[in-house]
Amino acid sequence: MDTRLEEEGVSQPYELADKSFLDEACEVVTELKARQRMQNVMARETGKENKHANPLIDRHMDVEVIKKLFFDENVQTVIAENLGTDLFVWRTNFFVKKEGTGDNKWHHDRHFENGTDPINIYDTSNHFTFLVALTDIDANAGRIEYMKGTHKPIDGFDRDIPRHFNETPEIVEDRVSPLLFKRGQFVVFHSSMIHRSLAFGEGEGRISMAARLAKKGTQFPEDGAPNPARGAQAAAEPTVYYRQTGIMPIN
Ligand SMILES: [Fe+2]
Repeated sequence: MDTRLEEEGVSQPYELADKSFLDEACEVVTELKARQRMQNVMARETGKENKHANPLIDRHMDVEVIKKLFFDENVQTVIAENLGTDLFVWRTNFFVKKEGTGDNKWHHDRHFENGTDPINIYDTSNHFTFLVALTDIDANAGRIEYMKGTHKPIDGFDRDIPRHFNETPEIVEDRVSPLLFKRGQFVVFHSSMIHRSLAFGEGEGRISMAARLAKKGTQFPEDGAPNPARGAQAAAEPTVYYRQTGIMPIN
């Protein structure tokens, strides 16, 4: 059992057993990113809304090198030992950061609970995130940060807040820590743990992939779920409909 996952909400970094296909994975992502950029340019130039599906979403379904990441020997072992053996992926996304890329605000990845149940932030049994670095992710190239222990209740830190926010609340300031990666390293974390990534600073561009995992049998809500437990703040942050198209059992 990974004690850092228990205590801090995120596992220690592990290495992919097979890194031989990472270059190919990076090439695919770079191409998909270019396609997304082109779609945005077209929308801007024609004044028409971009109605294309986001080309970076759920490519584990049709791109072999992306799918392979989940069946890497070490990924399988870490997931089975720490999260269980009855999981599926339901969404993957890539985060490409280079010159000009902005930040991703503080947030957690617990988007829904089970069917229409309200989100239960402190349930650590069913929603997880798998994060893998396809390139090095150092302190300057869009550093990833997390708030230690925010998968558990913290005295004085109210979680009835929007799922995304900018300012670091004072009460959790001393919990902010960087998550640095070498190419081919990965972590798993409890989805309710709060994390963010900073704007790109300098150096080489970097690419990460985040995957959302849930326990088999978890039902998708029709219209997404308000965060975290209804209330006025939830109304301020529109709910999102989550497609079930990315579902892939992994163990
Ligand atoms: Fe996230």
